[in-house]
Amino acid sequence: MINFAIDLKKIQENISLKAFNTFGLDAYAQYLQTFTSVEEIKEILASEHYANHEHFILGGGSNILFTKDVKAFVLKNEIKGIEIIEENEEYALVKFGAGEMWHDCVLWAIENNLGGIENLSLIPGTMGAAPMQNIGAYGVEIKSVLHQVCAIEKSSGEVKLFNNEDCAFGYRESVFKRALKNKYIITHVTLKLTKMHALKMDYGAIQDELNAQGVSSPTIKDVSNAVIAIRESKLPNPKEIGNAGSFFKNPVISKKSFEKIQSENQDMPHYEQGDQVKIPAGWLIEQAGWKGFVDGEIGVHKNQALLLVNYGNGIGQDIYNLSERIINDVQSRYGIGLEREVNIY
Ligand code: EPU
Repeated sequence: MINFAIDLKKIQENISLKAFNTFGLDAYAQYLQTFTSVEEIKEILASEHYANHEHFILGGGSNILFTKDVKAFVLKNEIKGIEIIEENEEYALVKFGAGEMWHDCVLWAIENNLGGIENLSLIPGTMGAAPMQNIGAYGVEIKSVLHQVCAIEKSSGEVKLFNNEDCAFGYRESVFKRALKNKYIITHVTLKLTKMHALKMDYGAIQDELNAQGVSSPTIKDVSNAVIAIRESKLPNPKEIGNAGSFFKNPVISKKSFEKIQSENQDMPHYEQGDQVKIPAGWLIEQAGWKGFVDGEIGVHKNQALLLVNYGNGIGQDIYNLSERIINDVQSRYGIGLEREVNIY
């Protein structure tokens, strides 16, 4: 167990990351230090300890699989704060500290009647991690509301601003995962949130949930509540069963490959994307017989095959090996190469 009485603002040695990753894996950090402001991270970047050790930036730990101990200097982003920096009758620009929990920010927005992220309710992780992988759910991605990302360049210690188009967002992708990987530390994220709301309820399950709840003229809070109800019915709470959300991305394949697979699988769900087709990885994994698979302390979730889970004392390397088996199996059955969505350490 972590002793929270210790001062994480000072460098701590040999400390378990179990409480700091949603898989609940008991990997150890060689060193760990938190930072709560731009000034503090600048000091760390200029320190001798930083210069002499490899480092690893940790946010909410909700999209990482630790397959081994982290023999490095782990820096945990705890920059907090929520501030409206500009507003008019139509919208508000809200600047969030990267260490704020994403869902707390969604709740704050709803309480302040600011719309645009209600469909992204209950996503684990921090604000700073959200643009990294362009989080998305129920027809909305952070890309659609992101105004600016403020980040520190590690090599120079300089603060840089990235506008929406600078982030090169794609499906669970951004420049921070590609060309600028490991080069910046995100300190703040500014979102453009609406006062005149445009609810997005075309994702079937949302409308069904609202109907079931008897809501006919929904507010942003109603949509958020519907999303929360859907997620709670399908996705395990990481506090109860360790997981990192979707472990794999949904593969996007050519129309030609799709038609070939579909000829033998008429009921395969799919979403056309221009001249390509996106297939739910959860469906492929379920068809391959892995849904609900249990191997000791780890497995594939029983309600959503896209999630690998740790029932308590699982080992990261075993979860990784399971993901390999699933990838190989889906490849041999369907000729589709699944890609991991979760980062591997
Ligand atoms: N499906 C199955 N079996 C399963 C799971 C899904 O057949 O075990 C089928 C469903 O029946 C449905 C389709 O797959 O026809 C899509 O399922 P669902 O709506 O649950 O969404 P998903 O594609 O599995 C994606 C995101 C989620 C996001 C949901 C809702 C990815 C990798 N995952 O999942 O994001 O919450 O849509 O928008 O894109 C995450 O990124 O961590 C995450 C949870």
